[in-house]
Amino acid sequence: MPIPTMSDLNLKGKRILIREDFNVPLKNGEITSDLRIRAAIPTIKQALKGGGKVMLMSHLGRPNEGMYDETFSLLPIAKQLTKLLKMDIPLISNWIDGFNMGDAPLVLLENVRFNHGEIDNNVELSKKMAALCDIFVMDAFATSHRTESSTYGIIKHAKEACIGPLMISELEALNKIMEKPARPVVAIVGGSKVSTKLALLDSLVKKVDALIIGGGIANTFLAAEGYTVGKSLYEADLIDEAERLTLEAKKRNAEIPLPIDVIVAERFAEGIESYVRLVSQIDDNEKIFDVGPDTIKSFLSLIKKAKTILWNGPIGAFEIEEFSHGTQAIAKAIADSKAFKVAGGGDTLAAIEKYRISSKIDYISTGGGAFLTVLEGKKLPIITALEERTAKNEKVT
Ligand code: 3PG
Repeated sequence: MPIPTMSDLNLKGKRILIREDFNVPLKNGEITSDLRIRAAIPTIKQALKGGGKVMLMSHLGRPNEGMYDETFSLLPIAKQLTKLLKMDIPLISNWIDGFNMGDAPLVLLENVRFNHGEIDNNVELSKKMAALCDIFVMDAFATSHRTESSTYGIIKHAKEACIGPLMISELEALNKIMEKPARPVVAIVGGSKVSTKLALLDSLVKKVDALIIGGGIANTFLAAEGYTVGKSLYEADLIDEAERLTLEAKKRNAEIPLPIDVIVAERFAEGIESYVRLVSQIDDNEKIFDVGPDTIKSFLSLIKKAKTILWNGPIGAFEIEEFSHGTQAIAKAIADSKAFKVAGGGDTLAAIEKYRISSKIDYISTGGGAFLTVLEGKKLPIITALEERTAKNEKVT
C-alpha cells in the first residue's frame, strides 16, 4: 500500500515536525560519529526549501523518563546541526505543551525521552506531539522498529503524516537486497552470538547464495560440525539451530562456508602471543579470535564473485591488531568489489571507519535494530501504522 512521502505534500507555511534519530555515540560530551546527523541533512534542507516551519525531534540514549538529565541533552546535536547547516538552531526545552518558534525557521526539540510516557507510547503524549504540527514526518529509520509516542503513536493523531527522504532511501536500499537482488548474493554476518542473530540468519539463509559467518557465530557452527573450539565463545544450546540452518542452505544449493583455519590465543589482549591453527587442531585452553589466512582466501573468492553484498558484523575481534586481519581483508574485498553493497550495524560502521572504505559502499544504513528488523523480513510497525492510516483515511481524533 503506497504511503505518503514528504515530497507528496505541500509544505508551504506548515508546521512540520520531523522525527529523526540523532541517537549518536558520545564520548565526554563529544560526538564520535555524526553519521546519523549527516544522513538527516537532505530531509531538513528539503523541508526548509518547501517553506515550512521545521521542528526536529529525537531521542538520545535511555534517560529516566519524566525528567531532564544533562547527560542526555541534545545540546551537542544542536551544535553539530548548526555547524552542518550553517544556521543557528535553537534547542527548545519544555516544548510538549506548546512553544513559540518566533522567527526561527528551524528548531531542535530537547530529548523526546524526557517526556513521561514516550517509550510506552502514551496516547495523551502522542496527541500533544501531534498538536504541535500540521505535518508529521517520520524520518528516523534507526528508531522505526520502536513503537513509541514520537515514532509510532503520533502517526494516528497528526493532521497529516508521511515518511521522509532518509526513511525512503533506507527502505529502497534494503528492498534492493531483499527483493530480486542481482546474484550471486553474499551476506557476511559477524557477531558473538547466534542467539542475537538467529532471526537474521534464518531470513538470509532463504535468500543468499553464500552466508559468510564470523565471530562466536562461526564457533557455534564449527561445534555443530563436531570440532572442539577450546575455550572459545560458542552456544552449545544453539548447535541444533546451526545444523538446521546448514541443512536449509544445502537444500537451496547455498553455502555457509566455515573457517578452515583460525587465529587463536589464550586471552583477548593487545600483544598476546597468537597462532594460526587448523580448525581440527585447537587446544583446550585456546580461544578463537579471527579467521586464518586460508579461510580469508576462500571468503575473498566468494566476495569477488558477488553481485550483491550485505555486511553486518566483523568476522574477528578487529579492535586488536593481531585479530584484525580477517575483518580488514573482508573490508578491502568489499571496497574493491563492483557489486551493489549495503552495510549496517554499530560494529560494522566502526570497521568501515577504521579501514576508511565508507565511500566504497553503496549504502550505509543508519539503523542497528531497525536494519536487522527489515533484514529479518519483519514489517516495521511505523509502516503498518501509516498504511492503516492511509487505508482508513483516518479522521484526526
Ligand atoms: C538505536 O540506536 O538502535 C536507536 O536509536 C534506537 O535506540 P533504543 O535502542 O534506545 O530504542
